[in-house]
Amino acid sequence: MSIELDEAALRRDLQTLLAEPGCARGIANLAGDPFFLNFFLVSVSQGEGLGEAAVGMIGQEELAGYIRDLKRQEIEERGHKEQTLEGARELFPEYFDAGRYRYETALQGRPYYLAVLQANRDRLERLGRYSRLNLYLTTTFAYEIMVVLLYSAALEAVRHATSIPDRVRSRVVAILDRILGEEETHVGILDQHNALLAMSRAGLSDEAQSMLDSLGMLTREDYAAPAELAVRQVARMMRRYAEPETYRAEIEGAAAAAPAEGC
Ligand SMILES: [Fe+2]
Ligand SMILES: [Fe+2]
Repeated sequence: MSIELDEAALRRDLQTLLAEPGCARGIANLAGDPFFLNFFLVSVSQGEGLGEAAVGMIGQEELAGYIRDLKRQEIEERGHKEQTLEGARELFPEYFDAGRYRYETALQGRPYYLAVLQANRDRLERLGRYSRLNLYLTTTFAYEIMVVLLYSAALEAVRHATSIPDRVRSRVVAILDRILGEEETHVGILDQHNALLAMSRAGLSDEAQSMLDSLGMLTREDYAAPAELAVRQVARMMRRYAEPETYRAEIEGAAAAAPAEGC
């Protein structure tokens, strides 16, 4: 079925999860503390790198060819990965050894990304609606919503952080602003969903056709549920910054136990 979903209303709903006091305090803490601000930027870079790789996840060349702006999305996500890491390295060289991030083993981007992906895969499988295309579209939708909400909240907090130097604030604001601008203009996933269902199937392989059959089974809830999960998980992560001493000790402890191998 084609999907009708009020994306703006869903965003507003989920935004309240990040506005909850413990989470808002965590975001304010991360914005005002160089150690955490840097940790956040490198975590974001790691997550963006996985977003770049996800474009290849569809694994069905024919249908991938029909998804508009896929290449652009891949290039943009790569840019986000590079800009955040570059900013982190230039602003906070004290946390890098020969260009390698010292606390890499404690980074949150990858575990977060994989946890949301796996939970969404399990959900779709349980409901009999799993396909690589379905997983790609619903997970990408979820991340895109989370990214806009999280980066907007972080951007606001950095803007208001008085405890960091001006040059740090303006650089981080510029990085997040630019990424947000690009994220906001991504071609809507739901439009792509509907366009794929509406296209002519003439000449498509059996594999592509069965992926479209499976796509047609997706419901609005199959998009809204992973988006809520993605924002809930990220809110949980942000609440950890509300206990800065504990969290910092944990990050340093993880790095001491398993030193970084490469970044
Ligand atoms: Fe991105
Ligand atoms: Fe994105």
